[in-house]
Amino acid sequence: MLKLVIIGGGSSYTPEIIEGMIDRHDQFPVTEIALVDIEKGKQKLDVISRLAKRMVKKSGKDITITASLDRRNALKNADFVTSQIRVGGLKAREKDERIPLSYGALGQETNGAGGIFKALRTIPVLLEVSKDMAELCPNAWLINFTNPAGMVTEALLKYGSHKRVIGVCNIPFNMRTGVAEILGCQTEDVEIEFIGLNHFVFGRRVLVKGVDYTSIVIERLKDPSNQYSPANIVSEGWSSTFLSSFMMLPNPYHSYYFKGAEMLEKSLKEYWENGTRAEVVQQVEEELFKKYDDKELTEKPTELEKRGGAFYSDAACNVMTSIYTNKGDIQTVNVQNNGTISDLPNDAVIETNAVMGGEGPRPISIGTLPLSIRGIIQLMKNMEELVIEAAVKGDRERLYQALVINPLVREETLAKDLMEELLDAHKEDLPQF
Ligand code: G6P
Ligand code: MN
Repeated sequence: MLKLVIIGGGSSYTPEIIEGMIDRHDQFPVTEIALVDIEKGKQKLDVISRLAKRMVKKSGKDITITASLDRRNALKNADFVTSQIRVGGLKAREKDERIPLSYGALGQETNGAGGIFKALRTIPVLLEVSKDMAELCPNAWLINFTNPAGMVTEALLKYGSHKRVIGVCNIPFNMRTGVAEILGCQTEDVEIEFIGLNHFVFGRRVLVKGVDYTSIVIERLKDPSNQYSPANIVSEGWSSTFLSSFMMLPNPYHSYYFKGAEMLEKSLKEYWENGTRAEVVQQVEEELFKKYDDKELTEKPTELEKRGGAFYSDAACNVMTSIYTNKGDIQTVNVQNNGTISDLPNDAVIETNAVMGGEGPRPISIGTLPLSIRGIIQLMKNMEELVIEAAVKGDRERLYQALVINPLVREETLAKDLMEELLDAHKEDLPQF
């Protein structure tokens, strides 16, 4: 028996993880996949569970799919649990994206004021899941991709009852795939030394089969068509001056911090033309669910690639498989620092490379951060720590401080205005305030 529970099973992303489980079934012979959702998501859950059953049937694999609204019951005997929830749904995301922009403040669902509010809504809910897991499946691993994944993972490891938690994101994985494409080699052969935080990670060194390709990759990245950006980010591209000077691979979210003026202009234009990303995603979801409901459909449709999180399941399934098989390969995950980066607190969660074996991730030591990015990473972590405290304790002072120091807000009066308006807009999902 090998049981996987998916919290947020009604998500449009679920077919990806089902496909991932089918593809890896020889190494990771999951016997039951339990999809769990809340009452509001029941309709979507039903569609997804029917599709999942068709996908499994076509594959011929021996996997039972169950669907339920009873989280506690589903968690019993779980070996692995994944979390992919969105508290308040896409309607809440719409507010996170629209309200800051209406003040001329940059950001999106995981960055700026909107990202802070997503953390405030999400952390208390996942702390409940953590409590349930400690009681009902104490040995299970929680693989969390609920955003903001870094902050959520840190909150769970600091304040949760269940400590077997690993945060994952598709960005490092997709950056490796992107580099493999640039170099014309296999993704498995590409190793990128990642340093930093979730959605604020840099690739410091690129190795292909152990040989250093960093400067070659940096050179090729100067061609904008080689620069990776997921579907959700209006990419601005990187100049050769920036790339040569920092000599690191930036991730697409860095544009919000280092190309603020251009990104604001682009984001506003995008907003006037198509609305917020949340609105675009609602449209994509509507189409996807229509497809999913087609009885003839027995596999993951390619349209899912219109979502920014495409291929996230590869990262998640690889983590689970390596733990299960005690593989000991290197994967990029969100884990507690514990000295990996000497310039950050031990209990801070960082996004880093780790050896993934049966006992979970063992992060690979990094030492000090490069001088060029030390300060901004410390600032971002400091901001995240304030948000986590605010989320757990319902502390308005911490929330205000986080907003003031966030580089995408950075103005005391703007921080106050955004705080008041967003607290009010989200009050139903923020019982702690
Ligand atoms: C990325 C991030 C994910 C995020 C997604 C948003 O690639 O790594 O954490 O959920 O984009 O995509 P969406 O299609 O919802 O805008
Ligand atoms: Mn992510």
